Amino acid sequence: MSVLPPSGRLRWTDVPALLRTRLETALGSSVTDAVTPAGGFGHQLAAALTLTSGRRFFVKAAPDDDPLTDANVHEATVLDVLPPGAPAPELLGIHRAAGRTAVVIAHLDGPHPDLSPPSGDAGQTWALLDKLTSSPAPAAYTEAVSGTPSGAAGLHGWDVLRADPPGDLDLDVRDRLHELAELEAAWPSLAQGDRIVHGDLRADNMVRDHQQGVTFVDWAHATTGPACIDAASLAPQLILAGHAPADVARLLRDHSATATDPDTTTAFLAALTGHWYRNARKPEPPGAPGLRAYQHRAAAAGLALLDYRLS
Ligand SMILES: Nc1ncnc2c1ncn2[C@@H]1O[C@H](COP(=O)(O)OP(=O)(O)OP(=O)(O)O)[C@@H](O)[C@H]1O
Ligand SMILES: [Mg+2]
Repeated sequence: MSVLPPSGRLRWTDVPALLRTRLETALGSSVTDAVTPAGGFGHQLAAALTLTSGRRFFVKAAPDDDPLTDANVHEATVLDVLPPGAPAPELLGIHRAAGRTAVVIAHLDGPHPDLSPPSGDAGQTWALLDKLTSSPAPAAYTEAVSGTPSGAAGLHGWDVLRADPPGDLDLDVRDRLHELAELEAAWPSLAQGDRIVHGDLRADNMVRDHQQGVTFVDWAHATTGPACIDAASLAPQLILAGHAPADVARLLRDHSATATDPDTTTAFLAALTGHWYRNARKPEPPGAPGLRAYQHRAAAAGLALLDYRLS
């Protein structure tokens, strides 16, 4: 039985039979169940497979000419070289057939973490980031990501809005466009660093595994950079989950990954918020329902944090 994907995701039964057979052979028995997890905005196959043996695996697959395949292969490479103890699932294999590439990853069992205030998951996530960024990335990791440009480094938005301000721009944003664009302009020269960066840290890119606890998934954007990137990306997510902006601003000020470099953190937050604010105004892309509404809310959370950092 297949569970219909929540968004426009491909299903296991949409995968060409040749690749399905290749995977079943590699995994050692037939697939009896394929569940597409809720969350995320992607259109590729991302499914938890159960086999007749009872074992479970997680598979992502896309056509070879889809840029998602490069992203999946990058993720597989990263999973293979993360240091022991990193909060990530194990890579189990890459399989190619019928013009598609599938990446098989150890299955994590549990829901997305609950980042809302009463839960301990947010605290656990901050602690994981502390550990992940407390020392430079191992050489094998740095080497593996060296050929992939950092998505975080290229984030921007306020510059575009300042160059040609839309007539319906919020008045308070219009008044602050110059300041926001100046903060963002500082980001590219600060974006280099030697720490592991997940690069897309949201609750739907984490699983609270029953045994391993909170674990980061979707390492497709992983790179190296300053320690602050993932913590500063997580901060607006906590506001979206119900934390008071003042509390999150305090956490960001004091966390080991962000406290030592406040200017870099502020510049990154400005660039990330500008990216969200600019993109939220674009038409909804096909296959990603809800993306623009999410970007709109995330931009508001980012702006609230910037208010605290600049006041
Ligand atoms: N190893 C895993 N075990 C169990 N579930 C997982 C695993 N990896 C990811 N998931 C679940 O599958 C969903 C989609 O996975 P992932 O984020 O890697 O795919 P994606 O297509 O890159 O997503 P996005 O929509 O973010 O682009 C995640 O939100 C998570 O719920
Ligand atoms: Mg994802």
